Amino acid sequence: MRLDVVSIFPDYLAPLDLSLIGKARRDGLVDLRVHDLRDFTHDRHRTVDDTPYGGGAGMVMKPQPWSEALDHVLGTADDASGPAPVLVVPGPGGQRFDQATARELARAPWLAFACGRYEGIDERVYEWAAQRMEVRVLSLGDYVLNGGEVAVLAMTEAVVRLLPGVVGNAESLVEESHEGGLLEYPIYTKPSVWQDGDGVTRAVPDVLLSGDHARIAAWRHEQRLERTAARRPDLLAAAATAGALADLDAS
Ligand code: ADE
Repeated sequence: MRLDVVSIFPDYLAPLDLSLIGKARRDGLVDLRVHDLRDFTHDRHRTVDDTPYGGGAGMVMKPQPWSEALDHVLGTADDASGPAPVLVVPGPGGQRFDQATARELARAPWLAFACGRYEGIDERVYEWAAQRMEVRVLSLGDYVLNGGEVAVLAMTEAVVRLLPGVVGNAESLVEESHEGGLLEYPIYTKPSVWQDGDGVTRAVPDVLLSGDHARIAAWRHEQRLERTAARRPDLLAAAATAGALADLDAS
């Protein structure tokens, strides 16, 4: 998969050299290129922002550096990437990024990320870009970050770990939280009985030591339901609706 990131803080993306994405890059599974938006300015101060028309607080990112930066990215298309990337613009005003979005994006051969700062990017950049590629404005959640860089770190990690060959044990992708619309069940490791620092004895649930795989699977499913009901009842309601729709489809 090809990934391009345009930002005024390229150093913010340094963690993409580490851990899972770093290894995927070294293994040749991911071709990641980070671009400094200021390299596409033409004034002495390398200006990327200006005051908003109509007034209001803060600064707005100028259209010209963005069109030149994205034109540069588009100009590096190759046979593997296809003609144009899906452009992801992280922002609190976007559609919610979730596991289904990560799965969709993981199917694209080429993703480009435009990291906005300040109050955001001049609206005409979105129109310009939409004539050249698919544009997705995506939000991590209902809170405001200072810019898109942290969101890009989160989104690329969620996407890249779904690529074949990136996560060693593919089964671990199937059982985790949000796959199947429920949260993950509780997990335990050795010792089976742990004496904590307060002298309290804490034992692993018996069923997990029973060797009875059907009972273990049933217990885990029940735990997923209970945990989802307690922490994320909204997911349970969505899963019920999806199930009811699937039943209708089948009938
Ligand atoms: N940039 C600023 N806030 C954001 C958010 N909530 N999600 C994604 N990108 C953002």
